[in-house]
Formats: sequence, structure tokens, C-alpha cells
Amino acid sequence: MTSDRTLSPQDALKKAVAQAAVDYTLNKIDDKSIIGIGTGSTANFFIDLLAEHKAKIAGTVASSEASANRLKQHGIPVYDLNAVDEVTIYVDGADESNPHLELIKGGGAALTREKITAAVAKEFLCIADGSKWVDHLGTFPLPVEVIPMARSHVARELVKLGGDPVYRQGVITDNGNVIIDVHHLHPISPARELEEKINNITGVVTNGLFALRPADVLMLGTEDGVETIYATD
Ligand code: 5RP
Repeated sequence: MTSDRTLSPQDALKKAVAQAAVDYTLNKIDDKSIIGIGTGSTANFFIDLLAEHKAKIAGTVASSEASANRLKQHGIPVYDLNAVDEVTIYVDGADESNPHLELIKGGGAALTREKITAAVAKEFLCIADGSKWVDHLGTFPLPVEVIPMARSHVARELVKLGGDPVYRQGVITDNGNVIIDVHHLHPISPARELEEKINNITGVVTNGLFALRPADVLMLGTEDGVETIYATD
């Protein structure tokens, strides 16, 4: 892992929040618990710091091949989600969070497996540096995972919803699909409604709005330390 002296200020915040998430997670699990592991640079800090406690970890499920490989390199067991009865806690980053802890995710193209893992988890802990905190979602382009043959159809439908779809060149998801990033949707409100509408377009696998299943807890890394925020309705 990168030494602290070479971390950028943003990465130092990600690492601080990942450490707080490890402490939080260790308090939630027992010797049978399965931990859901997200994807991205903040999740990578979490994985590396969690590895220092691997003797206490019964197993994990991962939201991407990249995270599964990183966990295995640390010697942490990774299970297929279908092989576990329960995921005690899911820990993952985000591209944006609003005060309701509704999120935009999928900057790393792992949104579908992330959404599945979040759906199964009893608790969803989101970890992010302070730059991800917004009043309203939608400045970050909304990722949509699409079956490849439906790409043009889905793009036309997204324009009808007011978005500006951009095909993410050169990216194939772990599920063999493509990503369309939808620009100019800010402010997304209500987020649940847009999440449902986009998911109803034929050919969409899922979109990166996590509003129907928001985070339960957000740990936000700021200059003043790690803030723990609970969802408000
Ligand atoms: C991957 C994700 C990530 O959680 C999101 O992109 C945040 O990444 P990072 O922790 O690198 O800022 O949704 O699909």
C-alpha cells in the first residue's frame, strides 16, 4: 500500500474514512459474518486496512472482479453471493451523496454488482471523501449499464428524459455490458423516480442511482476528521 507521506490530500481523507469504516465493521461482525466489499479507490483502502484483521473475518462477497482479486491477494476468503445466506454489512464508496444518503455510483463501472450487494446487505455503510457530498445529485454524470445491442435505443430514451448520454469508450463491465454516462441531469429530484424510470427502459441493466436502496450510514472524510451521518427522510 502507498505510504502516507506520498498520499494526495484526497487520498489521505479516503484512507482516514476507510480506517473508521474498518473499526465500525469490526464492531458489527462475529465469527460467521460475511462482509460485502465495494469497488474503487476508497474501497481499496478499506480492503488493505481490513486485511490487518483478516483472522477475524469469516468471509466476504465482492462487487467486482477487481475487488475480489485484491481480497484474495490478501488471503481473505471471497464467496459467491449465491453461496451466502446473509451479508451483515456492505462497505463501498460513492461518486456523490446527498443528505438523504441517496447516491450516484458506478464511476468504476461496477454499479450493477454494487446494487445487488447493497440490496442483500442488512446495513450499507458508504465511505467517501468530502468532495462527494452534494445538496442535489447529478453533477457527476449518471452511469447506466446497458446490454450492448440496446445502446442506441437506450441513448435515445435517455435524451427524452432530459439527459445527455455519452458512451463510455473502451469499457466492458464484469457482466459483459457497456456503460452510458448521462450528463446534465442536475438537480436529480426525486431521485427514486428517475431511478425507476431509467431502469424501466428496455435494455438497461441498472443505473447508478442508489435512492430506492440508499446508504444507511455515510462516513465522510473531511479536513476536520471523519463525520458519521445517518439518513434523514
Ligand atoms: C465504482 C463506484 C465507486 O464506489 C465510486 O466510483 C467511487 O470511487 P472512488 O472511491 O475511487 O472515489 O461506484 O463503480
